Amino acid sequence: MLRNTDQRYGVVAMVLHWLMALLLIGLVVLGLYMSGLPDVGFNKQKILLIFYHKEFGILALLLATARFAWRVGNVLPRLIVQLPDWQKVVARFVHLCFYGLMFALPISGWLMSSAAGIPVYFFGFRLPDLIAQNEYRFQLLIDIHMWLSYALIGLIVVHASAALRHHFLSRDNTLRKILPDLRR
Ligand code: HEM
Ligand code: HEM
Repeated sequence: MLRNTDQRYGVVAMVLHWLMALLLIGLVVLGLYMSGLPDVGFNKQKILLIFYHKEFGILALLLATARFAWRVGNVLPRLIVQLPDWQKVVARFVHLCFYGLMFALPISGWLMSSAAGIPVYFFGFRLPDLIAQNEYRFQLLIDIHMWLSYALIGLIVVHASAALRHHFLSRDNTLRKILPDLRR
C-alpha cells in the first residue's frame, strides 16, 4: 500500500521517514565532527567533509519538499485512542517542528555558504547564491545553523524515546504503524 490509511503509514511515507532519519542523524554527526576539526593551514579533510555535508544537506532539502507534498496529499494515520489529549498535542507539535527544521536547517546552511562567498554544488550543479557575501551575516548564520541543529537533536531524543516507550512498555501499535507489516 503506497498511500497512508487512517490506521497506518504507507510505503512512501515509511521510506521517506526512515531514509531521512538516517540522513539527518548522519548530517548532524558529520556536522559536529567536521566543525570541530582545526582550521589551521589548508585542512583538506575538513574542506572535503564540508563539501559532502553541503551536498547531502541539499539532498535533505529536496527530500523534505517531496515529503511535505506527500504529507499534505495524504490522510494522516490516527494517534492511538488511549493517548491523553496533551500527549496528542505534543506529538503533533513535535512532528510540525521536525518539518520546520527539515527546511530551516538546509536553508540556513545554504544562506551561510552564500554569506561566506562559497558556492553550493548539488552533484555537479552550481546552485545560485541566496544572499551577498557578508562577514557579519556569515557569523550569525553559523550560530543559527548550530542552534537549529541542537533543537533537532533534542527533538529526536524526545521523539525516539516516546516511540520506544510505546513499543516496549505500553506495547501499542505506534511504532508498528510506521514499520512494514510483516504479517501479510
Ligand atoms: C538537514 C540538513 C542539515 C543538518 C542537520 C546540518 C547540521 C549541521 C551541524 C550539526 C553542524 C555543526 C554545527 C556546529 O557545531 O557549529 C553543521 C555545520 C555546517 N553546516 Fe550544516 N546541516 C545541514 C545542512 C547544511 C547545508 C544544506 C549546508 C550548505 C549548503 C550546510 C553547511 C554547513 C557548514 C558550512 C557548516 C560548518 C559551519 C562552521 O564553520 O562551523 N549544512 N551542520
Ligand atoms: C531525524 C530523525 C527523525 C525525524 C526527523 C522524524 C520525524 C517524524 C515525523 C515528521 C513524523 C510524522 C509522520 C510524517 O510526517 O512522516 C514521524 C512519525 C513517527 N516516527 Fe519519527 N522521526 C525521526 C526518527 C525516528 C526514530 C529514531 C523513531 C523510532 C525509534 C521514530 C519513530 C516514529 C514513529 C513511531 C512515528 C509515528 C507516530 C504516530 O503517528 O503515531 N522516528 N517521525
